[in-house]
Amino acid sequence: MVTGTAFIDGKYMPVGEAKISILDFGVIHADATYDVAHVINRRIYRPDWHLDRFFNSAKGLRLEIPHTKEEILEISKNCLKKSGFNDAFIWMGCTRGIPESGSPRDLASCKNKFFMYVKQYYGMLMNEVNTETDGMRLMISDIVRIPKEAINPKFKNFHWGDLTKSQFVALDNKVDSALTVDLNGNIEEGPGFNIFMVKGGVVRTPKEGMLEGITRRSTLEICKEEGIKTELTVITPKELFNDSDEVFITSTAGGITWVKSLYLNGEEKTFEYGPTTKKLSDIYWQKHSDPDWSMSID
Ligand SMILES: Cc1ncc(COP(=O)(O)O)c(C=O)c1O
Repeated sequence: MVTGTAFIDGKYMPVGEAKISILDFGVIHADATYDVAHVINRRIYRPDWHLDRFFNSAKGLRLEIPHTKEEILEISKNCLKKSGFNDAFIWMGCTRGIPESGSPRDLASCKNKFFMYVKQYYGMLMNEVNTETDGMRLMISDIVRIPKEAINPKFKNFHWGDLTKSQFVALDNKVDSALTVDLNGNIEEGPGFNIFMVKGGVVRTPKEGMLEGITRRSTLEICKEEGIKTELTVITPKELFNDSDEVFITSTAGGITWVKSLYLNGEEKTFEYGPTTKKLSDIYWQKHSDPDWSMSID
């Protein structure tokens, strides 16, 4: 059972008691945005980047969040204190709401709704035990991610049909997860994470067509600080499979997670927990106690 604290309709409550109407367009039309930040040792990681992305996503989807960034930060801290968690996710969302007329075309009368919940933190791998030995088993699927021209993936959204499909493909193939591609067959992202390859000391990641993850942004920023060359580029499945020295994924859930096995068209390729991935991951976790990168909730 998921435990934690929620904030909805101006009230705090146990997460299991928080409810949203079945008339809300967020529920019936995926007309919503959301963001997920995390807390380690009672410090919120990059609240500034998360709140900027949340408000930018809302603007892009023509939603108005009925709170300021400062108010949301305050609500986050209250939820965290009430939950008693030291390490947690902060899930915040804004849905279109309910039209006064009941008409699906009456977007103008909808009062956009904000809610939040806090739950225990966990990593990307469901059965993760040891970061040094347990990497991810990742399949390169041919599932096409919704084209960026249709739904802008930079605005964090509820359109997860393609990503859910990729996760079912992963389940069917008994691997941890599966990557999606664009209409030209180039790599985009996975269900809840961005993808990176390291080749000859250069850290490469897809340039567009995916959510610009906060962990992806952190990784690129750390590379800059460390003088590691990066390339935002097009990556084909064959390139990722054949040319990578190291492969890792980035996500709020688990940070920088190394890929142990890649699968393409029934073939498997295995990797070590490589030096670049390890270095970036170590620095990423150190940033969680750096006051320039994280904020205490106390
Ligand atoms: C589609 C998608 N891509 C990438 C990510 C990784 O983003 P972040 O590093 O902000 O968690 C997420 C996170 O949920 C996501 O939903």
